[in-house]
Amino acid sequence: MALPKLQVALDNNTIPSAIKSIKALGDIVDIIEVGTILCLAEGSEAIKVMRALYPDKIILADTKCADAGKTVAQNCRDAGANWMTVICSASIETMIAANNVVEELQVELYGDWTFEQAALWYQSNIKQVVYHQSRDALLSGKTWDDSDLEKIKRLIEMGFRVSVTGGLDVNTIKLFKGLDVEAFIAGRSLRDAEDSKQAAIGFKQEIQRVFS
Ligand code: 5RP
Repeated sequence: MALPKLQVALDNNTIPSAIKSIKALGDIVDIIEVGTILCLAEGSEAIKVMRALYPDKIILADTKCADAGKTVAQNCRDAGANWMTVICSASIETMIAANNVVEELQVELYGDWTFEQAALWYQSNIKQVVYHQSRDALLSGKTWDDSDLEKIKRLIEMGFRVSVTGGLDVNTIKLFKGLDVEAFIAGRSLRDAEDSKQAAIGFKQEIQRVFS
């Protein structure tokens, strides 16, 4: 089982703010996510800036695309993204169209989705999903529980590479012990830390401790 990667979610509102965040974190994290908030606020320019700063890192555009998969994927790819996300409620046609353009597509699992749909995604050559606790669910008091871990396990058993996200901090990593997680995606706990670089190093050390 490979060590899970660490992905930072740049949910900044502006490019200058995202640059400030990534300057502290970019050398430590494995994957740079241009977050949904940044994609919506600044568009492809934010992806271009991250690609210019980090030519060799995996860059994910968290578009949570729901339609026009081919066009959105082409725009992300032209700007320098390797991977992008679609929302789980997008049609299979949208997913396939996007998957044909980017190196890898991730389906973001929010709200209602089924394992039958997931089987169709997998048959359609989509190999990554993101298991997500939404900000709004977390704010209303939901936490990670056994039902989440069971679903993650089942998705991994189906063959997916599964990343997890939503309010993660260094203390939540151990909840996933024994699961072959692809990447831990953290936003606020890295960007808003007093010392973001040290926070990222702490995540990496905890991943090493729990998963090796
Ligand atoms: C929100 C997202 C976030 O990027 C992701 O959940 C990480 O954010 P945080 O660690 O701040 O909860 O996809 O839609």
